[in-house]
Amino acid sequence: MGFDGKNIISLKSVCKSFGKNEVLKNVSLDVSKGETLVVLGKSGTGKSVILQCIIGLMKPDSGIVEVFGKNIFEMPPAEFLNFRKRTGFLFQSGALYDSMSIRENLEFPLIRHFNPGRDVLNEKVTKSLDEVGLLKSIDKMPSELSGGMKKRAGLARTLILEPEILLYDEPTTGLDPATSRDISRLIRSVQKERNMTSVVVTHDMECVRMTADRIAVLKDGAFTVTGIPEEIMKAEDEYVKSFFN
Ligand SMILES: Nc1ncnc2c1ncn2[C@@H]1O[C@H](COP(=O)(O)OP(=O)(O)OP(=O)(O)O)[C@@H](O)[C@H]1O
Ligand SMILES: [Mg+2]
Repeated sequence: MGFDGKNIISLKSVCKSFGKNEVLKNVSLDVSKGETLVVLGKSGTGKSVILQCIIGLMKPDSGIVEVFGKNIFEMPPAEFLNFRKRTGFLFQSGALYDSMSIRENLEFPLIRHFNPGRDVLNEKVTKSLDEVGLLKSIDKMPSELSGGMKKRAGLARTLILEPEILLYDEPTTGLDPATSRDISRLIRSVQKERNMTSVVVTHDMECVRMTADRIAVLKDGAFTVTGIPEEIMKAEDEYVKSFFN
């Protein structure tokens, strides 16, 4: 028994409805270590719902969600907390705490999970902000940052726990092309330097091109096609094609 270390994330026949709205009808997915899977799908098809199921914020009606080889909904609380520590989530909105400075935003998860001393806090916050090019804004409030800076601050706050998995929900949406490219580049370097396993939900084809090892296309509650970018971009299916032109 145990975890062979190959598929870090594995969804098996996941279904999720909200009342009569059947959003996920049969979602299966494997993401292997170090891989970046990009999820494409029209607005409202359930991409964010899938990410929330992977992180355990939302429980499927049926099906199995395994992360690091374990069913996350059967983990004892301490193990679940550890799983959450190892799994970073970059929300669609960035989700910074508005009443805290950037420094305090980054300290927050560290204090919650490790409660380290002042020196360690300073060192880690500095390093993480430096990694995303935001060190100069350490004492700013989120309201003083631009959209792209907020995304970067959100990423820094996620990276500070040194996760092994990163889930990105529309990391470049609402940003200008140059800033989007900066964020995509940042995602790429995080993947490479940390051998990160990632799932990226995006509409941004530049981001797909720069980050995807594999693409999965969501339609009518299931993945219709999954494959390497070269295959998906050549697909004849009109729905799949619609993302690339
Ligand atoms: N907590 C919830 N309660 C009720 N319905 C929900 C909830 N979360 C999502 N839904 C519904 O599930 C469907 C999929 O939502 P989801 O946010 O996953 O879409 P999405 O693919 O991420 O879209 P977008 O590209 O616009 O972000 C929508 O119909 C939405 O209304
Ligand atoms: Mg969404």
